[in-house]
Amino acid sequence: MKNSSLPLLLLLVLYTISASSRPYENYDDKSSLSSTISETVFSLQVPALDETTFDNLLSFGYYRKTCPQFESILHNKVKEWIQKDYTLAASLMRLHFHDCSVRGCDGSILLKHDGSERTAQASKTLRGFEVVDDIKAELEKQCPKTVSCADILTAAARDATVELGGPYWAVPYGRRDGKVSIAKEADMVPMGHENVTSLIEFFQSRGMAVLDLVVLSGAHTIGRTSCGSIQYRLYNYQGTGKPDPTLDPKYVNFLQRKCRWASEYVDLDATTPKTFDNVYYINLEKKMGLLSTDQLLYSDARTSPLVSALAASHSVFEHQFAVSMGKLGIVDVLTGLEEGEIRTNCNFVNDY
Ligand code: HEM
Repeated sequence: MKNSSLPLLLLLVLYTISASSRPYENYDDKSSLSSTISETVFSLQVPALDETTFDNLLSFGYYRKTCPQFESILHNKVKEWIQKDYTLAASLMRLHFHDCSVRGCDGSILLKHDGSERTAQASKTLRGFEVVDDIKAELEKQCPKTVSCADILTAAARDATVELGGPYWAVPYGRRDGKVSIAKEADMVPMGHENVTSLIEFFQSRGMAVLDLVVLSGAHTIGRTSCGSIQYRLYNYQGTGKPDPTLDPKYVNFLQRKCRWASEYVDLDATTPKTFDNVYYINLEKKMGLLSTDQLLYSDARTSPLVSALAASHSVFEHQFAVSMGKLGIVDVLTGLEEGEIRTNCNFVNDY
């Protein structure tokens, strides 16, 4: 087979995966599912999950009786914050990724105490905590002790994606908040210097596939990084006295001017930083991946065909992003009354 037909073939495979995506079937709230999900325009974007990763205790109608206004309160708050500062959209998505990556999506990243995940080196530039706190404060007024911080963060990441033009996906609820948060565990989250094998292993150990790694890395179509974390690519890369050769020379030039100080920030997607689109992948094809982990996805044989396929189709990217975010959002969730709790303040474990 000619190399050039590979991306097309992959597109077909992705479409096939997408077309076979069934709505969640095993959640406890089947009737609501069929009426509110499968008949809406969003039905194609509802993630399909394999039986083994299913958790029957999460459901789309979880707060229907106890806090029916949850999603509208959250939606309005997220919109309000992002209208004031659009950069918060990216920060909320990243916060959700860091939460789910450590002890599952249990809100443990939000806990604020000595030695918690939030104090880890890998968490230093996380933002968006105040948005979650604001939503939680309003929910405590309207439906006290009902909605978990983990559910708030998961839904906020979805609404933030939509605010910047990304896809919508239905989020099942019922996650409970964890009581344990350890900085050392948070430092295992990849920071952009890893090789592709360790990225794949990181994702696989959380029940996600190579496709999820490539698709979710597409979140770097928005947001920014501190110059400090990429300066090593710009000068004397690996002692060569030259910049990283996998970066486009014109882009290096731009970055050298943009990143004079380690404390400055630079957009992860140099072309369309404020829009949630597939240009991130197109940039990788042009040697314009800002993090070395991004650029490596285009040079590694296990991931590069997927990059090409996603670069070729915005709609496949959007669809698959919704599916993969659905998978991320159910990683190791705590459910049922015996596990975790519903925090009243997302920063602290309940003291009762
Ligand atoms: C594949 C492994 C990943 C690596 C190595 C990685 C690494 C990074 C790094 C180093 C930054 C910049 C942090 C800073 O300097 O402030 C960043 C930002 C970001 N990451 Fe990732 N990331 C990965 C996966 C993900 C995933 C799965 C998501 C979401 C689903 C995500 C969403 C984001 C977003 C939106 C930003 C911008 C944050 C902001 O502007 O506040 N990343 N990532």
